[in-house]
Amino acid sequence: MEFGHESVVVRRGRRSGLPIVVAVHSTALGRAVGGCRMWAYDSWEDGLRDALRLSEGMTRKCAAAGLPNGGGKTVVVLPAGRSITADERHAALHDVGDIVAELGGTYVTGPDAGTGPADMAVIGERTEHVFCRPEAAGGSGDPSPFTALGVVAALRSTCLALFGSPALAGRRFAVIGLGHVGEQIARQLAAAGAELTLSDADPAKRPLGAELGAVFTEPGAAATAEVDVLVPAALGGLLTRDLVARLRCRAVAGAANNQLADPGVAELLRERGIRWAPDYIANAGGVVNAVSREVLGDEPEKAVRRIESIADTLTGLFETAARMEITTARAADDLARRRLAAPVPTAPGP
Ligand code: PHE
Repeated sequence: MEFGHESVVVRRGRRSGLPIVVAVHSTALGRAVGGCRMWAYDSWEDGLRDALRLSEGMTRKCAAAGLPNGGGKTVVVLPAGRSITADERHAALHDVGDIVAELGGTYVTGPDAGTGPADMAVIGERTEHVFCRPEAAGGSGDPSPFTALGVVAALRSTCLALFGSPALAGRRFAVIGLGHVGEQIARQLAAAGAELTLSDADPAKRPLGAELGAVFTEPGAAATAEVDVLVPAALGGLLTRDLVARLRCRAVAGAANNQLADPGVAELLRERGIRWAPDYIANAGGVVNAVSREVLGDEPEKAVRRIESIADTLTGLFETAARMEITTARAADDLARRRLAAPVPTAPGP
């Protein structure tokens, strides 16, 4: 594996004793940004691997979204098979804050799987380099509604590519993962009159299906449901070679990071004629909102316009991919690479 990161800190938290990884992939376009994941892994090496992949993905995400930022990520490796106490959690967040503070502003953290705005306020007791503190504490708050907004914009342009109309009413979607982002995608799709299949590994999410008039199934069944668009909104790696051979959807577009189990899967999707919205294009809404509000000083309406421009970016990628007979993954990587090669002093956008 080629080592392309600028800096990686791997440390046993002084207070928590937990392994903590802060990976800064690139600051070529500006300060690195990327959330803090608190998650159980079988080993600290697995957490390190995740941080390396996710931080690299953040570099592409920020570049393709036109943000003046690079990519980073934090992973707090929780012990597998037991939950941590509130005190341990607090200690781990302070440990993260100390490492971020030491990096001196080259990296700004934020929420990710397993953390939220209240946790950012705790990190904020140790460093100012943190996004998405609660609004009452001066931050831009929970990014997940904005991530969901961007994914729904991506779903409209996916429908445009499939059907010639961006309307969501009557289209069939299967949403896998009903966490912070997945639930809000499901609600927005239901409000727009879509037909929904919902699923989550946690059966406690079943009532959401009833509330939204949706079918609720096991994640395995949802993944191969006969729908227009499959919407991955859980953790990464859903699109394996085996699953892609069995898909019965016409497109895949969702919120999960790192959806492709390996890069070659993009070509298999293309061969099957299944359109794929590159994950880091579709799910950029959360980080776009945070940077727009907290760095660029935009009003909420302007941030929302930037998020909705994800639809145009994706439409452009679908067109480029079709014209050049390449995967959408390749088209998106080319876009990110062009932006990285020619840094612009201010973020373009509406
Ligand atoms: N967790 C968000 C993502 O994966 C990242 C994020 C970082 C959101 C910083 C807001 C602020 O894109």
